[in-house]
Order: sequence, then structure tokens, then C-alpha cells
Amino acid sequence: MKILVTGGAGYIGSHTLVELLNKGYEVVVLDNFSNSCPKSLQRVEQITNKKVVSYEGDVRDADLLNKIFTENKIDWVIHFAGLKAVGESCEKPIEYYNNNLYGTLVLIEAMKRFGCKKIVFSSSATVYGTPETLPLVETSKTGGTTNPYGTSKYFQEIMLEDLYKADKEWTVVLLRYFNPVGAHESGLIGEDPLGIPNNLTPYIAKVAIGELKEIGVFGNDYPTPDGTGVRDYIHVVDLALGHIAAIEKCQNSGVFVYNLGTGVGYSVMDVIHAFEKACKKQLPYVIKPRRAGDIAACYADPSKAREELDWVASLNLDDMCSSLWNWQTKNPKGYRS
Ligand code: NAD
Ligand code: UFG
Repeated sequence: MKILVTGGAGYIGSHTLVELLNKGYEVVVLDNFSNSCPKSLQRVEQITNKKVVSYEGDVRDADLLNKIFTENKIDWVIHFAGLKAVGESCEKPIEYYNNNLYGTLVLIEAMKRFGCKKIVFSSSATVYGTPETLPLVETSKTGGTTNPYGTSKYFQEIMLEDLYKADKEWTVVLLRYFNPVGAHESGLIGEDPLGIPNNLTPYIAKVAIGELKEIGVFGNDYPTPDGTGVRDYIHVVDLALGHIAAIEKCQNSGVFVYNLGTGVGYSVMDVIHAFEKACKKQLPYVIKPRRAGDIAACYADPSKAREELDWVASLNLDDMCSSLWNWQTKNPKGYRS
């Protein structure tokens, strides 16, 4: 079976390629390397000892998609390509809507032209907006998103659902990721943010390696056990395996929605302490004001994925921190090391 992986050179994409190749799937990658570099694909080949066919270009390029679908008989598309920085999306909403919404439109038009009607889409817990109750189940209210990135994910889900309503031959899998962290155990692939990281765990890793001075904890007055924000961190390898479970189990047409999380919420301080254990040193932190747009707590009820996909996250917070530290120490400057 041949799978087109858009955004395959990125953080989650590269980890998913490894698991797909290890399971014997053939992969074709389309990436414009706007937030990644070709070295990640070479590393995937090194880990798996298999070839990755790749096309450099934009998912909004219909001619390129025609070429890819003509040269390859694609059975499934896993669509990771998109822009993902919440803060940046508020400054550049047009770029975010263009890349994410228009990108998905051009892709599904091409899929329709070539009769490929099976897609796994990278959605996000952000589609739930501010949760009314926790844990979040797939039927929890969506919408009420607070930034263009989140709104683009919400709109893309609606576009894909409408596609199925109009043509019942489509299989649409919407995977709502919680907070992906960690790296492959080899230390060869991992998250490689450009500049100062926005997300908690890459920031902690940069403090641990001495590149940044101290961790800023965004608020300690939330209604959570220790006052700091609570999230459902999920190991990126577990997340990658969720995509394989989706492809293997969602054989019929329809719209399938799954939360991919562990079901356990950890606070910012829990994560700092777990990372201290992994890197074997105390890490400096300061309490800062709350970050605009943040919510107090967010975690999944992952039971639907367990029951229907036979998928559970098996790696814990210590595994997430130790694998990230392994990647960080082996690649202090990411893929530019
Ligand atoms: P990433 O930036 O590492 O990967 C995205 C990849 O897509 C990059 O390689 C980038 O170069 C490529 N890309 C972007 N726009 C493109 C375009 N127009 N054409 C071709 N390639 C393009 O991000 P990631 O963390 O691996 O996220 C993958 C997907 O998962 C994204 O859609 C993201 O929104 C979603 N997601 C991520 C998180 C997270 O916290 N990392 C959480 C929820 C959902
Ligand atoms: N935090 C800090 N200091 C930092 C960075 C973050 O205290 O330097 C805190 C935040 O306030 C929050 C927690 O750490 O309480 C996690 O923050 P992240 O920025 O790592 O992650 P978010 O939960 O804000 O968002 C992430 C992705 C989104 C995605 C969402 C749900 O960035 O793209 O998870 O999947 F939508």
C-alpha cells in the first residue's frame, strides 16, 4: 500500500514515516521544507534502512500534485503539511488561512481527480476551544477557537466532513492531537524549532543544554493542583502509531474522529521536574504572567481510539523527557548540528 505523506519531513511526519516504513508501507513525501529540512528524510532512511521517495514543493501546487498522483498509485493520504504556530497565526492570519485551508482544498481536489478518497488529517485539541468539561471526548463542543491557527483546523475539519456528506465513498479520519513531545529513541529525528521555541518542552531542553537562561512558567494561579497549566503530553512515537492504527482500522467509508492523547494531564511544574530527572540537573525557572490565549487545563478521554482503533499511548512522561534529552544532546543545533 502506498501512502502520500504531506509535510513528511516535519516533526510528526518524520516519526510517522519511520513507523509506516517499519510496517512495510511504501511512502511518498511532499514537503516544501518551509519548517523542516531534507536531512530529516535522510535520517528516516538511516533508521529504517529503506528508501523515502520525496517531492520538494508546495501542497497548493496542483500541477505538482498531478505529477505525484500520475507517477504513483496512492491509496491513502496522511496530511500533515501546514503552518502550526499559534502566536504567529495571530500576526499572519492570511498566510495561515492560505497555507492551511487552501492547501487542503488543492489537495482534496487532486485526490478527487485521481479517485483517491482516503485521508487522515492532522487536527488538534485546539478545535475544542476553551473546554466546558474535562476530559474532552470527541463529541465535546468544537469551535470557539481563539486564534487563526485553531480556526483553520476547525474549518478544515468542516471542509472534510462536507466532502463526505456529498460523496459517501470518502474515508475521512480526523485525528485530534493533544501535546506531542519527545523524540525517536535513536536520537536521529526530533523536533527542530527555528529560533526560540514557543512550546514548553523544547524550551526546557534548550535551558537544560545551556542555550537559554531559564524557563518562564506562564502563570501559577490557574485552578489546577499546583496553579500551573495542565496538558495531555503524548510521546510523538505513540502519536505516529495512532496514524497506522487509523489506516488499518478505518477500512470503510465515513468520517472518523479520534482524540490522540494519554488521558493524563501534567502541569508545567510536573514536566520541569520530569525533565530534571532525565537530564540529571536542576533547571532554573521563573514564574511569569499568564500567556494570552492559554487555558488552564486540557486533556483527552482517549477511550474511543482504544476501543475502535485498538490504540493506546504506551510511553510515559519520563520516556518523553529522556527521549527529548537524548535528541537534544546528540543534536544541539537540531538538523544543523
Ligand atoms: P512541522 O512544522 O514540523 O511539520 C509540518 C511540515 O509541513 C513541515 O515539514 C513543513 O515544511 C511542511 N509544510 C508546511 N506548509 C507546507 C505546504 N504548503 N506545502 C508542503 N509542505 C508544507 O509540524 P508538526 O508538529 O510535525 O505538525 C504536523 C501537523 O500536525 C500540522 O498540521 C500541525 O498543525 C498538526 N498539529 C501539530 C501539533 C503540535 O503540537 N506539534 C499539535 C496538533 C496538531
Ligand atoms: N508554557 C510555559 N512556558 C513556556 C511555554 C509554555 O509555562 O515557555 C506552558 C503553557 O502556558 C501551557 C503549557 O506550558 O500551560 C503547554 O504549552 P505549549 O506551548 O507547549 O502547548 P499548548 O498547549 O499551548 O499548544 C500545543 C500546540 C498547539 C496545539 C495544542 C493542542 O502548540 O499547536 O498543543 O494540541 F494546538
